[in-house]
Amino acid sequence: MKINLTNSKINKIKSDVEIVLVNDIDNLKEKELLESLEFKALDEAIVFLPEGKKIFVGFEDETYDSLAIAISTAIKKFQTTTFKSAKIDLTSFDSVLLKPIVEGTILGSYTFNNYKSKKEKKKKQELIISIQEDSPTLDNIELNSILKESTIISKAVNKARDMVNTTPGDFYPEVMAQLAKKLAKDAGIDYKIKGEKFLLKNNMNAMLSVGRASIHESKLIHLTYKPKEANKKIILVGKGLTYDSGGLSLKPADYMVTMKSDKSGGCTVLATIWAIAKLELPYEIHAVVGAVENMIGGDAYKPDDVLKAKNGTTIEVRNTDAEGRLVLADCLSYAQDEISDIDYIFDYATLTGACVVGVGQYTTGIMGNNEILKRNAVSSALNSGEYASSLDFNRYLKKSIKSEIADISNIASTRYGGAITAGLFLDNFVAKENKEKWLHFDIAGPAFVEKAWGYNPYGASGAGVRMTIEFLKNINK
Ligand code: BES
Ligand code: ZN
Ligand code: ZN
Repeated sequence: MKINLTNSKINKIKSDVEIVLVNDIDNLKEKELLESLEFKALDEAIVFLPEGKKIFVGFEDETYDSLAIAISTAIKKFQTTTFKSAKIDLTSFDSVLLKPIVEGTILGSYTFNNYKSKKEKKKKQELIISIQEDSPTLDNIELNSILKESTIISKAVNKARDMVNTTPGDFYPEVMAQLAKKLAKDAGIDYKIKGEKFLLKNNMNAMLSVGRASIHESKLIHLTYKPKEANKKIILVGKGLTYDSGGLSLKPADYMVTMKSDKSGGCTVLATIWAIAKLELPYEIHAVVGAVENMIGGDAYKPDDVLKAKNGTTIEVRNTDAEGRLVLADCLSYAQDEISDIDYIFDYATLTGACVVGVGQYTTGIMGNNEILKRNAVSSALNSGEYASSLDFNRYLKKSIKSEIADISNIASTRYGGAITAGLFLDNFVAKENKEKWLHFDIAGPAFVEKAWGYNPYGASGAGVRMTIEFLKNINK
């Protein structure tokens, strides 16, 4: 969907259809007609009047969510028509609301049809947005830069969605590495890809063990964006389980379906570094992804094994389905060993079902040792259009991952607080000097959408991309 801004008045703009955002039906000349059609100014309410060439959509308040949902509802309808162009009047809105309109349009019009035998042709459609010339808050140049920025951000989210939606038969660690390379080249940034020989040589036995039963070689992916004017150094680490069968602690059949999405954390950090490079933000960014497939077989790692991680910590494996934390453990160590004097280190993972139970399927759980950092991350997430909630560590849960025979166990001894005990496990692989610089994002809930919501169709959502970019944008403020 092409988006253009114009200062022309709405009735001067030529287009096939007009999208009207309705918060209060009383002011409309079509009031009676809309009432007779039982239209209400609520989220996802829509009436299409083909004769009048108008699409009415409800919105409940002037918030990111409400406006992004409204425009995506309208755009989805527009996509079902043969119309080429739509226009919308935003002159009465605060100009900062251009962001949800642009992002709602691009995210809402996303489709994934790679596996359909009858491919629908991508229609060339255009949205023309009427904005106030030099609005009280922002001038034309600033509005055009919002359009540009939101377009890059949404494209990054859609790139993550495309990768996550790709099936495990077509997307295994080597494929992830090649796609990472392609993204790096497109963004003009550096890349390193390492195989199992490197993992072995560097004592990354935790990560290595998880991928051992797979026919696909595990890959460590490291992308670097290093602009000259960089004033901060940030590491993004991602769980890239291209498939999680559970391993020998095999998942029940119903729980295995959708586990192609266990690479979401990795896809999020790849898409995010791509966007940051495109936006030319003044930070040195490292994206480190552990791309691994967790399978069964004679060579599989086992419950009862003890693994020595890269940082020397020994881990008792009590459940091979708690594999993400093993991969992240070594990736966190690798990143901190390779990159010195960092300002932040964030990791992203579809780590626990417990997080979904705890905060619901729409929300990311954010954990860490630095209360202020956590709070800022939650607030950036909410400002970016994502949901997030802080989950707090405590000394008792910390004790629950003790092991009788090794330094720690990969699962907790308590059934409760599984998202937090997984976060506490990862804390063992964050160096002392980085404890306050680290955050863990459990995206197990929002990463994969089983029932469409808002502007997210069925499938991958690209969770984590928008919140991270928003967080990084605000760091220097
Ligand atoms: N990939 C799963 C977590 C997950 C569950 C992601 C549901 C998305 C949706 C992870 O590797 C896992 O299996 N975790 C176990 C941990 C348990 C064995 C301690 C879980 O959550 O059940
Ligand atoms: Zn698992
Ligand atoms: Zn997993």
